[in-house]
Amino acid sequence: MNKIKNPFIDDSIVEGDDYCPRKNLEERVLNKLESGHNLTLIGDRRIGKTSTAHYVIDNMKGFSKVDIDLYHIMETSDIAESIMDACKKVLDKVWDSKKVFDFAGRLSPKLDVTDAGVSFGLDSSKKEYKKTLNVAFEFLNEVVKRTHGKVIVLFDEFQVVKDVKNGDAILKYMREKIQKMTRVSFLYVGSIRHDMDHIFRDQSSPFFKQAEIVYFEHIGADIFFEFVDKRFQKKKITIKREVYDYLYRICYGVTGDMQTFCRVAFESLPEKSNLDFEELFYVLEIIYKNEQKYFKGILDGKELTRIQKNLLIQLAQNMEQVDVKYFGKYFQQIIGVKSPGAITNALIALEKKQFIYKSDERYCYSNPFFKEWVLDYRLVI
Ligand SMILES: Nc1ncnc2c1ncn2[C@@H]1O[C@H](COP(=O)(O)OP(=O)(O)OP(=O)(O)O)[C@@H](O)[C@H]1O
Ligand SMILES: [Mg+2]
Repeated sequence: MNKIKNPFIDDSIVEGDDYCPRKNLEERVLNKLESGHNLTLIGDRRIGKTSTAHYVIDNMKGFSKVDIDLYHIMETSDIAESIMDACKKVLDKVWDSKKVFDFAGRLSPKLDVTDAGVSFGLDSSKKEYKKTLNVAFEFLNEVVKRTHGKVIVLFDEFQVVKDVKNGDAILKYMREKIQKMTRVSFLYVGSIRHDMDHIFRDQSSPFFKQAEIVYFEHIGADIFFEFVDKRFQKKKITIKREVYDYLYRICYGVTGDMQTFCRVAFESLPEKSNLDFEELFYVLEIIYKNEQKYFKGILDGKELTRIQKNLLIQLAQNMEQVDVKYFGKYFQQIIGVKSPGAITNALIALEKKQFIYKSDERYCYSNPFFKEWVLDYRLVI
């Protein structure tokens, strides 16, 4: 018998049938882009920002998308190269590829253009940021010139620009260039909320008020239940609503994490199963087994201080509390510190190391399965 393809995807952006619609959010994004606004989408990790951004743009008629992912950038020339690569993809579709080569050949600093992408020659990779970015914006202008209708430029993981050397100066330079462009809407997406807030909400930032902010909501529990339930039916697995609600709660409604659970459940449960609480804990145990060494390593290893470890463990139990409660005397005693400042420092360190993030005034584990493991197993193992 053919193995049934697992319908749950948790390791890439989702599109087409694999994308569960989120109408309200899509409409908000769509209306703003259609009316020519620049927009920034800010939201927690793995919540679906990139998928929704693409879904909305790809369904707009007569628009060209320049898709720039800044996730891996280390220096300015990487930013410029990401912009140019994205532009080249659009130009290759609307223009003769020889003309793209000719156009790139006329620019300075000199570029190496291959089918694999565009890069600055080795000797010019360290050229100052204005020169490299200037070339990148020449590319962007060329895209505008060679396409009809509006252009949407999607900058994903935009917050990383801030951490590049000369980050603020780069932002300032980009802002000057962006302001002069017509027929283009910019959509900036990012997951580190305080970094994105800093870029778009701080009066001192060059991007202050450069774009309207939309905070990305968690997916509606009902609509995602329908989506999940239908997919489980492919193996005739029935997921109980209470079990789904429990899953939604422990994953804080983050789509990527719920999909991980469902992928493992689909893979491990026999056909025609009832996904009840017993099965839920069975599936969680499989997830733990895969990750246990890593989880244990965090609590036993040297990456975190004793205080940070204590705090992490306490946060697993006190997630629902507003952070003000973390600073009381009793809480300090449990953690083993003598001042609220020490707690603040440990929270900042845990956030920086991306073990936790702050959402709606509470701290969440970046990996909710780690949190469940801390609650269920830490003392057993
Ligand atoms: N609309 C959706 N329907 C179903 N699953 C979704 C949807 N959006 C996101 N997901 C799930 O979440 C995962 C992460 O999606 P995506 O990369 O779009 O999120 P993100 O917020 O951009 O993540 P990151 O913080 O890593 O950039 C996907 O692999 C998929 O499992
Ligand atoms: Mg993303």
